[in-house]
Amino acid sequence: MRYAFVLGRVYTLSIAELVAVLEKPDIQLGITGEPVKILEASEEVLIIESAKPLNVNGLQKKLGGVIKILEVVDTLKKREQDSINFALKHYFKPSVLKKKFLKEYKGKMQFGVSIYLLDMELVKNNHNHGNGNPAGRPAVTNSPFGEPKRIGMMIKKSLTDSGQSIRLVLPEFNSLALASVVVTKNLLLQKGAEICIIAGKNTLYTAKTLAVQDFEDYGRRDYQRPVRDDKQGMIPPKVAQIMLNLSGCKTSEIILDPFCGIGTIIQEGLLLGFRMLGSDINKAAIRGSENNLEWFRNRYKIAPGKYHFQVSDATDVAKLLEGQTVNGIVSEGTLGPLYTSFPKPEEIEKNFKDLNKLYVSCFREFSKFLPAKSQVVMCIPAYRKNRDSYEKMPTIDNITELGYNLVDILPSSIAKNLKFLKLTERKTAIYDRKDQIVAREICIFEKN
Ligand SMILES: C[S@@+](CC[C@H](N)C(=O)[O-])C[C@H]1O[C@@H](n2cnc3c(N)ncnc32)[C@H](O)[C@@H]1O
Repeated sequence: MRYAFVLGRVYTLSIAELVAVLEKPDIQLGITGEPVKILEASEEVLIIESAKPLNVNGLQKKLGGVIKILEVVDTLKKREQDSINFALKHYFKPSVLKKKFLKEYKGKMQFGVSIYLLDMELVKNNHNHGNGNPAGRPAVTNSPFGEPKRIGMMIKKSLTDSGQSIRLVLPEFNSLALASVVVTKNLLLQKGAEICIIAGKNTLYTAKTLAVQDFEDYGRRDYQRPVRDDKQGMIPPKVAQIMLNLSGCKTSEIILDPFCGIGTIIQEGLLLGFRMLGSDINKAAIRGSENNLEWFRNRYKIAPGKYHFQVSDATDVAKLLEGQTVNGIVSEGTLGPLYTSFPKPEEIEKNFKDLNKLYVSCFREFSKFLPAKSQVVMCIPAYRKNRDSYEKMPTIDNITELGYNLVDILPSSIAKNLKFLKLTERKTAIYDRKDQIVAREICIFEKN
């Protein structure tokens, strides 16, 4: 079976997470743990071949970096010079639509059309596509923005001529794909289908959407918590999920966040089935975590014994653990001062020096209790100079000297075939936002 995953904005992290999850056996999700077989990939979408059917709804809930999961229906050849709709001219027959795409529904049926691109060389000029994924996605040379509409009308006509009345939902002007919120709000998966075309230069994949990211639930997990801390900053739940999925820990193992703040990583870890320990030097942060988790565990039906918080300096956390096993660490350490304009070189140097001292002490402390081969997934600050260029912390060497290896965020056997990835020269990945100077560099260290 072939599945396509529509990737989030920071697609390098989305792919790293996806590969980590798909290579970890999980009977409930239908994942065998075989090396993942990637058929095609771009900044927007990744197609895999899976020996077994996947539990896509379970998988969608688990993945912070994936916006939609699609089932690939057919593969068609296309001449490079042909437009997408021309190549599909004879494809969408009523029988094909009813048998392969549309869900049975008694009321007024609805469907939507989205296009994802496999080859970004097909594109030119900058346009904003909406879609909830890559902002500022460029326009298609050979198939300007009318393609979803043209294909949608073609499908609608085919169905109407066969006596089936159906409503068509199209992407916003300047977009090639429907935002997940539109798919959800229009109940497309219940009342018909979202029909997707994944377009390469010479190949088209037709696909239908099986699952969509629950944007409302992520919003609740972020903004409806009783306590927030805009001053220290909070990691977005999606990014916390990605980091936890990168940790190599098995479900029900124990993960520590020694800079837990108001508990975002703790709550996301619990949802993924881990047992969680949180500590922070700040008493108020621990109180905030406790309040948040009380709210969270009632809402998401999590047993109270699955997590524990304590006030502690991260450089002195071992003694609080009292011989308790910790299978891994996932944490957004302090990022230092936050800036609204690029800091002076002296400031950067001072911040890095201070943080280096802190992190070296922390990793020395972690060595006291972490088992060999366990992993520390950690965010460290990177100052964003311009679009793809950052001033990064020189700390890594000091940490590796303490008996840790910096692990590639994505196995090199996969990364070498995906030239479009945005990996740093040390094979970490950066999560940033346009409006932020201090970005998060996500690093994975493995204890020797
Ligand atoms: C960026 S915040 C973490 C936010 C957290 N990920 C969340 O989403 O709520 C960094 C946290 O590190 C804590 N911190 C700073 N220095 C520390 C230290 N030496 N030991 C433990 N915690 C520390 C701060 O109190 C702060 O809560």
